[in-house]
Amino acid sequence: MTTKEKNLARRYERIFQQVEDLLLKTDNKIARLATVAALLHHKMPHYFWTGFYILTAGELVVGPYQGPLACQVLEKNKGVCWAGVRDRKVIIVPNVHKFPGHIPCDSRSNSEIVIPLFNEKNEVWAILDVDSQKFDAFSEVDKEWLLRIVKLI
Ligand code: SME
Repeated sequence: MTTKEKNLARRYERIFQQVEDLLLKTDNKIARLATVAALLHHKMPHYFWTGFYILTAGELVVGPYQGPLACQVLEKNKGVCWAGVRDRKVIIVPNVHKFPGHIPCDSRSNSEIVIPLFNEKNEVWAILDVDSQKFDAFSEVDKEWLLRIVKLI
């Protein structure tokens, strides 16, 4: 790991510990999503938009988020978030302008990572979506720690 990656991993580790403590306060899912979105967004300099889309009656509807105004409902089976629902896996997009069907909620976003959240039946119920103004902003370090953090929700 490079020094930069090590520093990033350390930062994520501290956030992970904070999330563990903060999520002791309530079982309410919206409160938990809002807490994670706010914490991540304000601690991570490479984040531009940080939030959740929640599967609601077959649609991806925006949940708690931080950053510029986002699309409220994502067109079905299109873009990065829906690909995360379909493939049930993390998707890292180094250049969103090259991703087929990418839904641009804000033209300043250039790269993106999407993390599916699973319920107790192992179904995807929400997506964590983080956008960056930088190209190629997200790495395996982001993937590993974001996976750990969303499991706490
Ligand atoms: N770009 C996403 C849509 C959500 S916004 O980035 C906040 C997509 O293609 O699914």
